[in-house]
Amino acid sequence: MGDSLGLRHTGSMTDASAAVRNVNVSTAKSVPSDATAVGYPVAPKGAVPRQLGMNRSALADNGFEGKPGQTLTIPSRDGLLVAVGVGDTDEIDANSLRRAAAAFARAASKHAHLATTLSDAGDVDAAAAASAVTEGVLLASYRYVGLKTGDDVGSKLTDLTIVSGGKRTAGTQKGVADGHAIASAASFARELANTPPTYLNAVDIADKAVALADDAGLEVEVFNKDDLLAMGCGGMIGVNRGSTEPPRMVKLSYSPKGAEKHLAMVGKGIMYDSGGISIKGGDAFHQAMKMDMSGAAAVLATMSALKAVGCTTKVTAWLMCTDNMPSGSALKLGDVLTMRNGKTVEVLNTDAEGRLVLADGLSLAVEEEPDAIVDIATLTGSVLGALGPDIAGLLGTDQDFVDQVKASSETIDEPVWQLPLEKKRYRKLLDTPYADMKNIGGPYAGTITASIFLSEFTGEVPYAHLDIAGPMKIDSDNGIYSKGASGFGTRLLIDLACNF
Ligand code: BES
Ligand code: MN
Ligand code: ZN
Repeated sequence: MGDSLGLRHTGSMTDASAAVRNVNVSTAKSVPSDATAVGYPVAPKGAVPRQLGMNRSALADNGFEGKPGQTLTIPSRDGLLVAVGVGDTDEIDANSLRRAAAAFARAASKHAHLATTLSDAGDVDAAAAASAVTEGVLLASYRYVGLKTGDDVGSKLTDLTIVSGGKRTAGTQKGVADGHAIASAASFARELANTPPTYLNAVDIADKAVALADDAGLEVEVFNKDDLLAMGCGGMIGVNRGSTEPPRMVKLSYSPKGAEKHLAMVGKGIMYDSGGISIKGGDAFHQAMKMDMSGAAAVLATMSALKAVGCTTKVTAWLMCTDNMPSGSALKLGDVLTMRNGKTVEVLNTDAEGRLVLADGLSLAVEEEPDAIVDIATLTGSVLGALGPDIAGLLGTDQDFVDQVKASSETIDEPVWQLPLEKKRYRKLLDTPYADMKNIGGPYAGTITASIFLSEFTGEVPYAHLDIAGPMKIDSDNGIYSKGASGFGTRLLIDLACNF
């Protein structure tokens, strides 16, 4: 590992997503004797699992009522017992189980071998329940380590046993395997976005895609600057112009035998967004701009898991990777770019760079005639103003496809809210005398004008756009999320691909 500035020679990185992948996840009909912390579901009414050694009034005396997310830890001779609140039994679903499992993992975070009967709570399909519980424990256990030194850093978890019996065994086994693959993928996306920018440039993420492709059953093609020039990808070339580090576009293809549907995905991979000549200030947003590749990370992570979860849809993905830097060679305001689909764009703010690189990716996706295209991008600060930090913006040209994205969002509990892709009213905000469009709209509705810009490159293909500028990162540990990059969109896109 090396770079021209020598930064990378000062330390070696620990990969916390590998730790998640390497957890031994298993199923058992009863709690294994070597588990050191065991979680039992408790609802506000009904029987209390006798293994907890406490009745309802004793639990209540300790302030535990079985509400969702509540936990009570009970030290015992054989290890830690954890009462895990799951809420009213008839309201339990996969999402509440995932959250309960996350609460259990946080309560038992000092422990290496966790076991739980949580997936049998309520009346959830065995596979969905086991997947959700596995995801909840593993995602809540993810801790970014990176270049932190010392012994007491990182997750302690080495083993997880999902306990379930009888007729649910087969479903539980399938669910645990899926959940492990899904949590590993989301952790991988977090890891990529948490990594300092000099440790993960466009070349590095392309190398990672190549390294994982074979095992993940993917074909991979990497395009360098000369390739992009030859292909007429003016957006990628333009945004990369100010950088000393070269761009990469990565195309990944997952082609299961007998696939009937074809979904395309495009991820914004701005490895670091300084704003370019329209340079950002020294604010908290700028400080988070190593994560401006969270869309590409979610797409790469999604692709890495499709084979493991048995996805039967053909999926083609493009990662649009470069940083956005100011320098003597950077794009100038008023410059006009010609994009892959031939349309011209006047650049009036170099900080509106995500849409420029996505334009080329979307154009290339259209050329393959997929049944639908979804892109995912940390695209606009405006979406934070509209929806806050927890909810992604969703916009699209085809309501049926947008509804599929919404359904996946609900299934896996990553919240989205649809905003209107209002071409009729707002397309004129992109008009300019100098090109087919400019890359910024007016002062308002920035998320909408950005999506209208993108839809200029999606032709007639049903299209949905996810703006994840809000939920790309989490400011403090909460449920399945640990402080830092969230991996948002990975679980959604896996579900979307599998159910498309
Ligand atoms: N990467 C940013 C958007 C962003 C902001 C992501 C905050 C995450 C948190 C994007 O490239 C950007 O700079 N957008 C500009 C667009 C504007 C110049 C039209 C913005 O939102 O201010
Ligand atoms: Mn920007
Ligand atoms: Zn950006």
